[in-house]
Amino acid sequence: MARSSIKFLWQWPKWLLELFAWGKSFKNNPIIGSYWLNRCGLHVMRVVVAQALFRFRLILLAPLVPAEDRRTFLKDGYVLKENFLPPEQFARLARELESYEGDVREFVEGTTLTQRTFMTHDVRSGLPEFQALVRDPRLDRLMRYCSSKNRPPLFYIENLCNHANVTPRPDPQRDMHADTFHPCVKGWLYVDAVDDRNGPYIYVPGSHRLSWRRLKWEYRQSLEACKKGSARAPGRYWDGSFRVSAAELAEMGFARRKFCVPANTLVIGNVYGFHRRGEALEKSNRMTVWMQARDNPFNPLFTLWPQRTGRLFEWVWGKVLVKLDRGKLASGEQRNFHGHFSRENTNL
Ligand SMILES: [Fe+2]
Repeated sequence: MARSSIKFLWQWPKWLLELFAWGKSFKNNPIIGSYWLNRCGLHVMRVVVAQALFRFRLILLAPLVPAEDRRTFLKDGYVLKENFLPPEQFARLARELESYEGDVREFVEGTTLTQRTFMTHDVRSGLPEFQALVRDPRLDRLMRYCSSKNRPPLFYIENLCNHANVTPRPDPQRDMHADTFHPCVKGWLYVDAVDDRNGPYIYVPGSHRLSWRRLKWEYRQSLEACKKGSARAPGRYWDGSFRVSAAELAEMGFARRKFCVPANTLVIGNVYGFHRRGEALEKSNRMTVWMQARDNPFNPLFTLWPQRTGRLFEWVWGKVLVKLDRGKLASGEQRNFHGHFSRENTNL
């Protein structure tokens, strides 16, 4: 009893730190998940402050990218560029990734087998075409601007195996949702062409903006997310990635866009905007260079040393992944292997 009380007390500093950083779990953090604090506006306050600081940093970083890209990103919540790399360079990159052999993490989402490799500086050094992409100044500047943090993202290769012969698990990627309570970006360079056969990305343009309707929706969701036990809809709110229904989207005046795009298309999206992974109609693969840039939304500043900071984040995240591996491997949720990506169904 005494030991559990001490443990509880020790967790308070951690919960407080999470409150002023990117913590989002209504289940694991009793401050974030407090009904009365959220009734008084804690969640909407976090949303508003994070959004204001994001816009402030974007203003300062504006010189990084052309005005047209900035306008599109601010208006729609994403930037899309077809034929991003010169065709010969893209063909070389695609060949390099197809034949990549290394450490792969594999897990099941729905009936999809997701294979991912975290592309650290060391892993990249053996892949000249991947390295050339990472160093492409257009990509570098776009990611540094859109993340509002002026640092390169974390890079992965992601290969989806749709309708894989697996025991299905719940698939959080198929529900329309916002990743978290603050703006942050993910990026995809599509190695395969994408259409209904292999599951296009679906995004709701404009849903990243903080309208009055969105704010009211956030408030309602925050109160729902505080519900405990049987009062809480299963799997829907506890992690802070709020799900949105088709009716709620219509009420907020939104329409979704399906990204059926050719190979060699770059998409950078603000995942505070609503999005989901579209259904794949066939047994198929979808490979992307996947990029992620999440940072403390309440830090009003950004780094002045993009590359060094990028390396530091990469190092820290590498350690976190290894730690997370232990639990996921032990529970059977994840499998790690050394080898090639599965690419049997790539006849697109
Ligand atoms: Fe998401």
